[in-house]
Amino acid sequence: MMENKQDFGTVHVPVMADEVVRGLAPEADKVFVDGTLGGGGHARLLLDAGAVVLGFDQDKDVVARAGEWGKPYGERLRVTHANFAEGLDALVQDAVMVDGILLDLGMSSDQLDGDEAEAADGRGFSYKRTADPLDMRMNVDATTTAADILNTWDEAKLTQMFFDYAEEPRGRALAKAVVAARSERPFKTSGDLLQIVEKIYPLRFGLKRSHPAGRIFQALRIAVNDELTVLARALPLALQLLKPGGRLCIITFHSLEDRMVKKFYKNIAVDELDSVGRVATLSPYKIWKKQMPTARELEVNPRARSAHVRVIERIT
Ligand SMILES: C[S@@+](CC[C@H](N)C(=O)[O-])C[C@H]1O[C@@H](n2cnc3c(N)ncnc32)[C@H](O)[C@@H]1O
Repeated sequence: MMENKQDFGTVHVPVMADEVVRGLAPEADKVFVDGTLGGGGHARLLLDAGAVVLGFDQDKDVVARAGEWGKPYGERLRVTHANFAEGLDALVQDAVMVDGILLDLGMSSDQLDGDEAEAADGRGFSYKRTADPLDMRMNVDATTTAADILNTWDEAKLTQMFFDYAEEPRGRALAKAVVAARSERPFKTSGDLLQIVEKIYPLRFGLKRSHPAGRIFQALRIAVNDELTVLARALPLALQLLKPGGRLCIITFHSLEDRMVKKFYKNIAVDELDSVGRVATLSPYKIWKKQMPTARELEVNPRARSAHVRVIERIT
């Protein structure tokens, strides 16, 4: 992992790289989809093994950067600016079949905490950069920003968002405080939201573990980018693209998306039983055991803290 850090400068240390390589088994002439290209950390591992990578990312900056770092790989790296659900759908329409698909969900570290130069262009994903505008669109062509949601959604809808996407115990109080605050002054920056979070969770009572703003900002990001809907749409499309022996490898970072992936895999990989309960048809899919980061990885890559790798394999 440290080697990657040096290679990529501050860009992005690929999370659970060993597990991803084991899951996807890249080699020359195999074709992979990387639905979340980001800084290309994982994609390079596949490309360096000689594979072809069809990369998607909904962030235009990511696509522009890939034009630079991807040059040495020539035709073996094909990058498209697209949401991965749209990208997978287009491949299904074209009857493409692939050896593996990677979805490394969420944000890359440079979207979250780029250096000072990038801070000016920050999109408000992090509660630690209080001057950033509350935007949070991963795709800048999308119309609704985080500030739009806070300034226009009614209290019930905001409450539901905080419950659904942050499992936020104080969701109701938070939504109420948001509505009260915006009647004085509309939400503009990350700092405006942080102030409200800190009213609901006064710091003097101490924050035993992680700052609640982390999950609250994440809830808004999920809403702005409609992340769970997109994932639900993408999962069945991904399976349709797998050749026999092909594998879908998903890295999740929070319990909502992890539960969705786990449930989807379980429902797919079930054997059909006959009327007396004997296996009539073996499922063509096998679920691999869930993997979590090693202690060694956590030392060099704290972003892996909440990562889970889930692989499903098409056997026949
Ligand atoms: C965690 S990063 C990927 C990092 C990458 N695996 C690496 O090693 O450099 C996630 C990337 O996926 C992109 N992304 C998130 N959701 C997406 C979606 N629904 N469709 C396309 N790209 C998405 C983000 O813009 C971000 O660049």
